[in-house]
Amino acid sequence: MRGNPGWNMSELRPDALGYRAGRSTSARVAVLASGRGTNLQALLDAEASGSLGKTRIVLVLSDRPQAKALERARQRGVEAVFLDPQPFPTREAYDEAVLNALRAREIGLVALAGFMRVLTPVLVRAFPDRILNIHPALLPSFPGLHAQRQALEHGVKVAGCTVHFVDEQVDHGPILLQAAVPVLEGDTEETLSARILAEEHRIYPQAVRLFAEGKIVVEGRKVRIVP
Ligand code: GAR
Repeated sequence: MRGNPGWNMSELRPDALGYRAGRSTSARVAVLASGRGTNLQALLDAEASGSLGKTRIVLVLSDRPQAKALERARQRGVEAVFLDPQPFPTREAYDEAVLNALRAREIGLVALAGFMRVLTPVLVRAFPDRILNIHPALLPSFPGLHAQRQALEHGVKVAGCTVHFVDEQVDHGPILLQAAVPVLEGDTEETLSARILAEEHRIYPQAVRLFAEGKIVVEGRKVRIVP
């Protein structure tokens, strides 16, 4: 059993439950994104409206120079960094560079928002239960690419999205929040994706807020939300 330590590693204290969930002191978040960045925007908007508490998105990092996410960050005055994977000989070497960027900015939580790279253990082990991902499917169904298309092709009647902690397997770690949407007659990949995306924008800020408030306890595969 392990607790969501909130933001400050030094606040991690064993208690009867295993570890007490700490409270936010320096709530510094990095968002990693490769593309259009609508989930990033939802997080930025939630922060601006005050609904993320003390959370501050202080870094947006992308592996693609043209990512709209970088532009969205700059528009809000958030540091936007393009880190080119090309010169790095291995995925691990790239993740070391990402890790250095995160450490230099004292990041407490990493939120993947359409970051289209599989993280190596270099990053995952450095941020245990401190990396969130959003995936456009009701995991464990339809991990990987084109989740919405997979759902349509499989003929499911209910689809949705999942916020989970990142572990060393793809789209696999403990599930924090999920939201379901119906699959309607005549849905295309685009219409279903749009319906799911609206729910992504709702639950991702909610998940970051729960983390910031130290309300998350991870017990093996299970995530408990404490009052
Ligand atoms: C979102 O639908 C997100 O769930 C998905 O990429 C999209 C990014 O959109 N992520 C994955 O598929 C990760 N496995 P956005 O750039 O507009 O936030």
